[in-house]
Amino acid sequence: MRIVRVLGIETSCDETGVAIYDGDLGLMAHSLYSQAHIHAEYGGVVPEIASRDHVRILLPLLDECLDKSGCSKSELDGVAYTAGPGLIGALLVGASVGRSLATSLGVPAVGVHHMEGHLLAPLLEANAPDFPFVALLVSGGHTMLVEVRSFGAYRVLGETRDDAAGEAFDKTAKLLGLGYPGGPALAKVAASGDPHRFSFPRPMTDRPGLEFSFSGLKTHTRNLWRKHSQEENAQADIAAGFQLAVVDTLAIKCRRAMQQTRSGHLVIAGGVGANLHLRETLSQAGRKYGWGVSYPRIEFCTDNGAMIAFAGYHRLLAGQHEPEIIHARPRWPMSELGPYRQKAGES
Ligand code: KG4
Ligand code: ZN
Repeated sequence: MRIVRVLGIETSCDETGVAIYDGDLGLMAHSLYSQAHIHAEYGGVVPEIASRDHVRILLPLLDECLDKSGCSKSELDGVAYTAGPGLIGALLVGASVGRSLATSLGVPAVGVHHMEGHLLAPLLEANAPDFPFVALLVSGGHTMLVEVRSFGAYRVLGETRDDAAGEAFDKTAKLLGLGYPGGPALAKVAASGDPHRFSFPRPMTDRPGLEFSFSGLKTHTRNLWRKHSQEENAQADIAAGFQLAVVDTLAIKCRRAMQQTRSGHLVIAGGVGANLHLRETLSQAGRKYGWGVSYPRIEFCTDNGAMIAFAGYHRLLAGQHEPEIIHARPRWPMSELGPYRQKAGES
């Protein structure tokens, strides 16, 4: 059977996402529901609440998305769901629904790596970059630079040794009393702060290599906050200094990765890719050094179903699919992702 129209389901953390991608028509529809307001009360994602809320929301969201697209379940040629990495209970909701739906429709199903979804999200945009490119993947759980040669051909150039960039944003926001989700809240407060009032380190930039470490920056921020929290404008100035330090650090490593791979195009993806200061800084670097720079629209930086439908479409097109078991992998190193090729004659 020719693979044309694929349903994508994302439930790895606290967003329920559903989308339909068609190889001929592009993205037909997508629907997203964020649980962030529920977890905000607890200052972070509560896994059991996340799983239960995915159970509550996923089927109505699926119907909504099918309605929007104007297509019926019987017109689907395959189903893709996020199989990992992520919260096991949350992943199992999407995997169970996705796998069962595929079986009942008699179509193949594929389990998608969440970070492959993020990495390919910029290709959903009108000005999609050509392969090869370097991707900066910055989310709540990952920070990595990846050389992308084609679909499935990924080489991890460097990753974080401790906290992910998004995690550092979230923890720092919590420290500054900014609530959850921390990244967007911190970025908002930083807009009115002076990033140069306090000095911040640029971790791991004084030595060669493409590894990251953000836990020291977090400790540095905690010490500053303890000392200055009662001073005027301290919250905004610390937020601005922290954001600048993270963005500078990411930009320095991106430049290194571009030099090392001699690549001409940089792609930014993952939740922190929604940060306007990061987007602007890397766009400027691109203009200065002559690289193309692309990123997904803001809503496709954070978790969504569209990126899973798109990545799943390409895997199914290449003939990959899962056996009839419900399988999820809370830990799944990207280095274990196998390469794949498109079959001759299909695009
Ligand atoms: O990709 P994502 O939605 O989920 C994971 O796969 O982790 O990323 C979520 C992360 C959170 O840590 C959130 O605080 C961060 O992305 N984030 C931001 C911004 N928007 C989301 N960080 C900084 N600035 C933002 N505007
Ligand atoms: Zn994500």
